[in-house]
Amino acid sequence: MERETWTNKFAFILASVGSAIGLGNIWLFSWRVGAYGGASFLIPYILFVFGIAAVGLMGEWAFGRSQRKGAIGAFENVFKSKNEKYKGFGAALGLIPVAAIYSIYIFYTIVIGWLIKYFFLAISGSFSTMDIPSYFGSFPGSSASISWHGAAIIINLVIVYFGVSKGIEKANKIIMPLFFGMLILLLFRSVTLDGAFEGFKYIFMPDWSKITMSETWVMALGQAFFTLSLGGATMLVYGSYAKDETSIPSAALQTVTFNFLASLLAAFVIIPAVFAFNLDPNAGPGLLFITIPNIVNQMPGGLLFGSVFFLSVVFAAVSSSISMLEPAVEGFMDKTRISRTKTVLLLSVLAFVIGLPLDLNMSLFGKWVDITTVYVLPFGALVSAFVFFWIYGASKAREEINKGDGFKFGKWFEFYSKYIFVPVAVLVLVLNIAFGGIG
Ligand code: PFF
Repeated sequence: MERETWTNKFAFILASVGSAIGLGNIWLFSWRVGAYGGASFLIPYILFVFGIAAVGLMGEWAFGRSQRKGAIGAFENVFKSKNEKYKGFGAALGLIPVAAIYSIYIFYTIVIGWLIKYFFLAISGSFSTMDIPSYFGSFPGSSASISWHGAAIIINLVIVYFGVSKGIEKANKIIMPLFFGMLILLLFRSVTLDGAFEGFKYIFMPDWSKITMSETWVMALGQAFFTLSLGGATMLVYGSYAKDETSIPSAALQTVTFNFLASLLAAFVIIPAVFAFNLDPNAGPGLLFITIPNIVNQMPGGLLFGSVFFLSVVFAAVSSSISMLEPAVEGFMDKTRISRTKTVLLLSVLAFVIGLPLDLNMSLFGKWVDITTVYVLPFGALVSAFVFFWIYGASKAREEINKGDGFKFGKWFEFYSKYIFVPVAVLVLVLNIAFGGIG
């Protein structure tokens, strides 16, 4: 069977942007940019995302494209080309990033379930009559969340079932423009609120004392890796569907730019509204599930704001979650020759069943999130970079990255990818462990 490809370069970029834009842009970036001193955070962030993480992105894409396989097959090929004996080891090593991203998929779909539920709470105007913090204290972790989790699984199943160009590509072509459109709509509401200016100050007022704090740099680095979905499986499999003439450097520049834009837009929607109502600009789930509903209740036009907001977050999350399911689907199909239909069904049911105990127990959920994002994901990013730039080789890697029509990297890139990028990927893993999570 011939391998599927994206219809064109634009579709490839859009799918990658879809993967990159996710909860990280919304519930981490907006908070961090303020907490770490505005411009003091943006400077290291821009440096890291364009100068370091983008190398990882290009590496993963090029690795996939060079082998026309996802991580399992690609690792296997590279080890096999060194010595037939190492073939099995390569495949086993490639399974790590695929399993890592699939484990993230398992908890991400649970969060998508909550988001869908909150979307319905928003359009039905329910925030005004409920006790918001206690609802968020009891809904996740209870059996009431299971059916919403199931709905999230079905949405992903349907998209990935249709395959690369008819499923993932098409979904992103619809989702991404709507996502940006909705954010712009929300932006108008948010910035015209009384007191919104305090929020701007929080985002942009540089607090230069923070730029000398190591934590600012550490968090910016973690954010840069996480936001570009570096984990050794997602961008790798997306790259394996890219055409040879697609310029990887230019696709990377566009993906990173769009992703950055989305983060900034999200920050400009959320933070001014938080300040306009004197709330706390906290991070993570509390921001989405407590602070935003509180804003919705107080804001003129809150019903519309809340509905559009939660829908846009669902869109951002789904365009990422499909990119977490695809690596496992591709790997399973490639190894077993079982059809896409059966594979998608099997892996969806499996993800749902493994997720059930997490639906019911928030402390287990928290542990799962920590282990997968702190240890396994950065480990996946590191092994794939190491195998590509060191074992496959930096010179062949550069050749693959330069293959398309467009900008070409000089020889310096080989040194840079091998001796700067890979050690930084080691550092990201170490810092994740030391800080208990930086992505
Ligand atoms: N980039 C996504 C975000 O910022 O939310 C998260 C992510 C997606 C991480 C896909 C890893 C991945 F493979």
